[in-house]
Amino acid sequence: MSFSTISVIGLGYIGLPTAAAFASRQKHVVGVDISSRAVDTINRGEIHIVEPELGSVVKAAVEGGFLRATTQPEEADAFLIAVPTPFKGEHEPDMKYVQAAAESIAPVLRKGNLVILESTSPVGSTEQMAQWLAALRPDLSFPQQAGDDADINIAYCPERVLPGQVMVELIKNDRVVGGMTAVCSARASELYYIFLEGECVVTNARTAEMCKLTENSFRDVNIAFANELSLICADQEINVWELIRLANRHPRVNILQPGPGVGGHCIAVDPWFIVAQNPQQARLIRTAREVNDYKPHWVLDRVKATVADCLAASGKRASELKIACFGLAFKPNIDDLRESPAMEITHQIAQWNSGETLVVEPNIHQLPESLASHCKLIAIDEALAQADVLVMLVDHAPFKAIEASAVQQTWIVDTKGVWR
Ligand SMILES: NC(=O)c1ccc[n+]([C@@H]2O[C@H](COP(=O)([O-])OP(=O)(O)OC[C@H]3O[C@@H](n4cnc5c(N)ncnc54)[C@H](O)[C@@H]3O)[C@@H](O)[C@H]2O)c1
Repeated sequence: MSFSTISVIGLGYIGLPTAAAFASRQKHVVGVDISSRAVDTINRGEIHIVEPELGSVVKAAVEGGFLRATTQPEEADAFLIAVPTPFKGEHEPDMKYVQAAAESIAPVLRKGNLVILESTSPVGSTEQMAQWLAALRPDLSFPQQAGDDADINIAYCPERVLPGQVMVELIKNDRVVGGMTAVCSARASELYYIFLEGECVVTNARTAEMCKLTENSFRDVNIAFANELSLICADQEINVWELIRLANRHPRVNILQPGPGVGGHCIAVDPWFIVAQNPQQARLIRTAREVNDYKPHWVLDRVKATVADCLAASGKRASELKIACFGLAFKPNIDDLRESPAMEITHQIAQWNSGETLVVEPNIHQLPESLASHCKLIAIDEALAQADVLVMLVDHAPFKAIEASAVQQTWIVDTKGVWR
């Protein structure tokens, strides 16, 4: 059966672009979100998140009558679930949003439906979701009961798009499709090929779940290696960026760049899902998380030591000192401050500093509430003219373009090697 109506549950950074991609291929898409603000915004043809090219696609889809948002699930041919999967307590995955989403679609499921879980989830989550649905709909058969003959097909298909390039990567990237049965995988692939130009690579649900977690853990472990080198090099008085540049001249070595820590809501979260399920085996993955989580604390200690040196050399009082932090976002050239180590470090500096804390972040117009009362948002030139101590936290393009001669300060903590 082909798909004429598609429902996307959760209209955030992943769900809304996916809904818009189907709608742009003239499929009728019903987007569902518990946030009435998101629903109202989308129904006006506008967007509530920042993502290049998304606004125009959503506007055209809504005006063309192909995309509509609502807070209540309705009948459809296929359902895609893209709700948050944060962690809770001691870094255990919190599946309450996925469970709530599954419970909300159960009453409107009908024979022949396909349900796809896209949220990043621990291994076994798709089977768990199938059990939640089966418990609520004993009148329908599910893959764990009837295999390929089930009334409802279920698959896990993770998302691997890069924020800032979602509308391109959603269509071009290859996609891992993990059906609970071969028929589930085939139907899920058929659904994605409505807009996908990349390839659907078929596997089972558990492997697909682990694949997503593996991709982000791979990144985390490799960044941790670079971050650990930066600590070692600081002790050994070696320039870590020069070291990495030299080591990468080896034909089979490709070390990533160190930074102030690891942020965002994926790489800093997803490896914990593997650790939570495999505490004995996942020793490297856990250690990488700990190395990356430690880095902001180390940076703060470096800032304190640099400030002490500055005070001793300048004879100024601590209350007279100005510290300028460059960058707040969790990575270069975006405005997303969520889970950002640069934010955390700036916040800690502002709490500790008895002088003025200046912030330079060219991608925002006002400081977030948590910083607004302790810090001042200023331009690059002003910071370079006023500050005693510079702290480089994010290598935004405008920071990399600063002429070396414009930086007169002696007291610098550079976590990105911009002022090496
Ligand atoms: N953002 C990324 O770059 C990215 C990349 C790959 C994977 N993921 C994964 O995709 C999933 C979604 O992430 P996101 O960034 O889109 O999250 P998000 O917070 O931007 O959006 C999630 C949306 O789901 C809504 N929601 C929550 N519970 C709901 C429910 N029961 N019914 C309907 N809507 C509900 C929220 O209101 C929100 O609008 C997560 O598992 C995340 O780890 C995200």
